[in-house]
Amino acid sequence: MSVAEYIWPQPPKGNYRGSQKASRPAPDPLLTQTGPETPCGKYLRMFWWPIGMTSEVPDDLPHKTKLLGEDLVLFKTRQGEYGCLHLNCSHRNTSLEFGHVTECGIRCCYHGWEYAVDGTILDTPGEPAGSKIKERVFHGAYPVVEFKGLLFVYMGPQEWMPEFPVYDTFNLADDELVPYSISYPANWLQIAENTTDPYHTVFLHANHSIDHFEESWGEMPVIDWHEHENGRHTCNLCTFRWKDKIWVRVYETFFPSFSQVGSFFETAEDEKYFQRAAITKWTVPVDDTSTKISAWRHFGKAIDSDNLGRRELVGKDTVDFLGQTADRPYEDRQRIPSDYEAQVGQGLVAVHGTENLGHTDRGVAILRKNLRAGIERVQNGEPPVRPPQNGQEVPSYCSDSVLPIPEIPGVDDEELRRQVAHAVVDVLRSADDMPRDERVTFVKSELEKLKDRPEFTQAKLAS
Ligand code: FES
Ligand SMILES: [Fe+2]
Repeated sequence: MSVAEYIWPQPPKGNYRGSQKASRPAPDPLLTQTGPETPCGKYLRMFWWPIGMTSEVPDDLPHKTKLLGEDLVLFKTRQGEYGCLHLNCSHRNTSLEFGHVTECGIRCCYHGWEYAVDGTILDTPGEPAGSKIKERVFHGAYPVVEFKGLLFVYMGPQEWMPEFPVYDTFNLADDELVPYSISYPANWLQIAENTTDPYHTVFLHANHSIDHFEESWGEMPVIDWHEHENGRHTCNLCTFRWKDKIWVRVYETFFPSFSQVGSFFETAEDEKYFQRAAITKWTVPVDDTSTKISAWRHFGKAIDSDNLGRRELVGKDTVDFLGQTADRPYEDRQRIPSDYEAQVGQGLVAVHGTENLGHTDRGVAILRKNLRAGIERVQNGEPPVRPPQNGQEVPSYCSDSVLPIPEIPGVDDEELRRQVAHAVVDVLRSADDMPRDERVTFVKSELEKLKDRPEFTQAKLAS
């Protein structure tokens, strides 16, 4: 048909208003910009961050990396100490990724300046005897802690440095921590928000694509939140009715972005109490448009009694559950999208001004509220709320408990589940100050008692 023959049949039906939304506002700079001069960057620098895996740092070669927008080099001295320095040499900026690792530091390839792990200049071999340059200059350096295959750095002012927080899930019996990392071409916040958005598991992982998980996951959970009164973490409480049991799944996020998630092989068929994390992870801002999850997968009898996890798939840019990377064919990712597609699909930096937050987004709102509060504290010269600084393991709440509490005729089951979930958290909260082993015993026995509480049993009807 030629253009001349084309006849406009009738205007398309519908209320088309794309032109009203064609221009997009800018992303929220307060929460998404992480450089050293930004308010959020200053706040984030008050915490320890995983910067990489020990397996990424060879014994005799430096490893170039980046965190919070700063170019850095990681290395291991011949004496076995880890160092993290600004990447570019303090002499004339050559990259220290080409430096030589020395007995107690690293030496720049260009003119041989040598740096200790704290940035002290040890040697300036081209300078004349008596040169004071190495006393006058220091190089940017950050302290490093190695823990179970991950390397952590603290990038804030030394006088504000907190204890390195060892959470109670770092040293469990029958539990092996296997490090992994995943990279995302997107801002850190939208990656961190995924864990505070439990509703997505029902839609993205069960109902709307394929069942990524067990059958019990497709049930719509009752979802509620618990914000710890000290402001250091928030929990999503996902409570499923599965046959004659109530499955309470507690996800948590310690601000800004340390989070833990329970087993993804949970079937909720068997009674259980306080089964701990399957994933312990930090969502790490690399720069404002790239993010890394640095994490451990937990393996062993305590979390995976049927040995369903696949340790051989866990490492750099790989983990043993579907859809966490871009390494699938594009059509597969379209047909069976998962977390990676949903998160990266929000754009390089998700624009809050074009969102319409609803009922399902309460966890996201809680996260953003607490991040803003932390940023404000730091702007006011106070430290942000951080895990307790008392030399003890930090009690965390991430857990799955499956309680034999059947439906009660005449009682709203959603309300029953909500009450059970909060009863579970009350038990956890009451044990915050106990030593680890005592706490675990106490929590399990108190959770086991919940099924006999009159308000959770048929006895309620008789009253
Ligand atoms: S640039 Fe590094 S020593 Fe000269
Ligand atoms: Fe997910």
